[in-house]
Amino acid sequence: MYSDEHVQMLISETQLKTRVQEMAQKLTEDFRGRELVVVAVLKGALVFCSDLIRHMDLPLEMEVLGVSSYPRGAETTGEVRLTFDLTQPLGGKHLLLVEDIVDTGLTVDFLIQTFEARKPASINICALLHKPSRTRVHVPIDYTGFTVEDHFLVGYGLDHGGRYRNLPFIGIFNPAQVP
Ligand code: IMP
Ligand code: MG
Repeated sequence: MYSDEHVQMLISETQLKTRVQEMAQKLTEDFRGRELVVVAVLKGALVFCSDLIRHMDLPLEMEVLGVSSYPRGAETTGEVRLTFDLTQPLGGKHLLLVEDIVDTGLTVDFLIQTFEARKPASINICALLHKPSRTRVHVPIDYTGFTVEDHFLVGYGLDHGGRYRNLPFIGIFNPAQVP
């Protein structure tokens, strides 16, 4: 696995495995008998989502979607847009949006608004990580893996400049210290 001196372990591979299995078990109970579409938000949620669905004992479909945030200057509102859409209509289906991390809440807020317009039977949010100290928009998170402090995290799908997604654990990223 690729790691370096900038990454300090926060959540181990074993802790992730245990928590992901618990979340999958709860989802299995909650969605039994419903037509479920699980949507992974690219790219960060891919690793989490692929582990999660393998522990969900239900018939389900998996979709991916892409979002991109405009730069968040001091005065801007952090606008989000869809860069890659679902391949099926959602009407009448139960939607589970899977995110790696809810930080300001802007992405999830945008996704809820976007998908509500397509009239699914329900929308639920599942996030591996939640950073409540950074909230700018309150969003309902129905399933949360871990609540974390305000650190920049990498690994298990989360990146810094495109790197570290392949780490099997979650770590705190510390940029190089200027001597
Ligand atoms: P939000 O719209 O501010 O809630 O941001 C959500 C997205 O920002 C996540 O899906 C991540 O892609 C990214 N993000 C937020 N915090 C972190 C972090 O600590 N490490 C890596 N990516 C992050
Ligand atoms: Mg993301």
